[in-house]
Order: sequence, then structure tokens, then C-alpha cells
Amino acid sequence: MQDERSSVAFPRDAWYPACRSGELGRAPVAITLMGRPVVIFRDRAGSPHALEDRCPHRNLALSEGRVHPEGSIECGYHGWRFEGSGRCVAVPGLASGADADATARTVPAHAVVEQDGFVWVWGRADAPSTGTPLPLPDLGTNGTGEVVFAYDLECTLHAALENALDVPHTAFLHQGIFRGGDQREITAVRRDLPGGVEVQYLGEPVGFGPVRRRRDGELTFDHWDRFLLPSTAQIEYCVAGWVRVVNTILHLPLAPTLTRAWFVVRFWTRFPAAVVRPIVELRGRKILRQDAEVLAQQTANIARFGGERYTSTDLDLMGPAIWRLLRRAEKGSLPAEAGPEAGSEDEAGTAQETSVTLRV
Ligand code: FES
Ligand SMILES: [Fe+2]
Repeated sequence: MQDERSSVAFPRDAWYPACRSGELGRAPVAITLMGRPVVIFRDRAGSPHALEDRCPHRNLALSEGRVHPEGSIECGYHGWRFEGSGRCVAVPGLASGADADATARTVPAHAVVEQDGFVWVWGRADAPSTGTPLPLPDLGTNGTGEVVFAYDLECTLHAALENALDVPHTAFLHQGIFRGGDQREITAVRRDLPGGVEVQYLGEPVGFGPVRRRRDGELTFDHWDRFLLPSTAQIEYCVAGWVRVVNTILHLPLAPTLTRAWFVVRFWTRFPAAVVRPIVELRGRKILRQDAEVLAQQTANIARFGGERYTSTDLDLMGPAIWRLLRRAEKGSLPAEAGPEAGSEDEAGTAQETSVTLRV
């Protein structure tokens, strides 16, 4: 299957992670959302807000200003101030507000919510939001831990999502870290989710640490990879009674070929979390470095040819499915909360499962 494209998919009417809650203190935080500058700040009550990062007066970045003690954001040039709705609430030196069109002084505002330790912004300014961001998984409190990695990847949102959920590359690029020993045949089943797609891997043998030594590889993982619109990838591993790891990767498309990714790794184990955490951190960072490098190389080479031309096989269970979902959501033909994955329907339009055998 061959697939040519020269543009980047970006469903605008959706929630995107903007920053971690802890990053947003008294100072404003500047991000870009597919190339559009956005400033995030907290008002006096601590509620986050997001505005286009451009003062309507002389176009300075509002993020270069400060949050006024009253809770509005103050431009650093002439001191105009804006509340979270984008309304201008002060023009220093102006005796009367009636001499100019006050609405022209309004800054476009994005809907914002704070959830699971992240500030989320709606992708379109001055537009009503729907639904809520996808919640992070709750693994309980006993024996659980969390590690978060943040990385700016030099690639499209689509390439980052595919990389996170692409199993075949792990046995090659990351050989020796968590796959790539003696290969086994396993079955992968792809199925639709509301607003996404999932691949379940069956029969993958457990292959690290004391679990393997004790049971000599007879145990198998439960393993799921999921894509959930607009920008979440999730990888879940579980060995019943031993370990459960859910890596939820939240992506912010900063620009067409620059994607910020937060890897929120939550785990439960029967071992002390303090023992597991450094292992997760070390392995995670090593894998991430390799991925970041290969994604940057992919982006650079695509640029040399002026666009993507991909050829896929049955092993590419996620990439084409993610692309079609992003494109459909972008066109508004797929609500972010529900709908079958395009291309996985039979002639009668019924969603179906796809199953392939692979060696990893
Ligand atoms: S440029 Fe912002 S107040 Fe003048
Ligand atoms: Fe990888």
C-alpha cells in the first residue's frame, strides 16, 4: 500500500496538552499550537487561561509581559491588560475607554481545563469546546509509581504517534533493550475504539528480569497499543499479579514538524516502586533518545523530497489507521469522542477486526 502526502494532519477542534500544571506558576508560559503562538497564565484564583500570544496594540508577545496582581495579563510595552476571556480591562493613560472600539482590543481566547496535572487548551480560539480531555489511567495507590518524560520531537504529530505505537521497529531500532532476542510468533488484533484504534498483541512472552528467570518465559504479556484522538498514544503491558505499566503519551503539535511529547508512565508492581522507578527511567531515556534521533532523520529526509511517500505492509497496523483518523477528525467527519476507524470497514460499512501474525 502506497500513500503520498505533502501536508500535516491537525484536527483543530480538540483538546491538546499545553503544559504540566506545575510549570504554570506566577509567570506566563508561551507555547505554539501548530505554529500559532499561545500564552497560558493563571488568574488570581489560580485558574488557567489561554490567549493568542499577541497584544492587539502593537503586537508584542503577551508572554513577554507579566501577570498583574489583579490576575490579568499585562503587556510589557504600554501595559494594556487582558483578562482570561481576552477582554481588555486596562489601557494605562487612557482617560476614557469610549474613544476607541473596545472589542478591537480583545484577544482571541482558547477554552482551557486543568486535569490530571496538565493544562489543556482547545485547538481553536474563540470557539466552544466539547467534551473533556482523555483522563489518565488510575492504577490505584498501593505499589504504584509514576515517571514522566518530556521530549520535543522533530517530526509531525502523525510520525510521533506512529513511532510510539509501532511494534516492528522496537525489535530493530531498540534491539537488546526490550525486544530483539530470539523471535517468537505472536498475533496482533486491531480493532476500533470510540475515537481511536487499538491493537492487542497475544502470546508475547515475558522477557525481562526476575519474572523470566523464575518462570522461564512461560508467562505472556497482555499488551495493548492504543491511539486516541486527537493526540494520545497509550501502551499498556500487564503480567497478571506481577506488573502493570501504562505509558500514556500526550502530544502537543507545536509546529508542523515539531511535536512535544509527555510520556506519563504509570506502573504497579509487586516490587517496591523505588526499585522499579530507576529501571523505568534508565530504559525509557535510552529508548527515547533512539526514537528522537530516528524521527529527526525521517523528517529531514522527507523535507529533501518535499513530502511523504510511504509504503506499508500488514505489519504497519497503526500508522495508516492513525493517519486516516486524524484526517477525518480534521475535516470534522469524525467526532473526537466516537466513530469507527476509516478503512477498517467491510463493504456493508460494518467495523471489523483485523488480525495479523508477526515475529518479534
Ligand atoms: S504593544 Fe501591548 S500595550 Fe502596546
Ligand atoms: Fe521506539
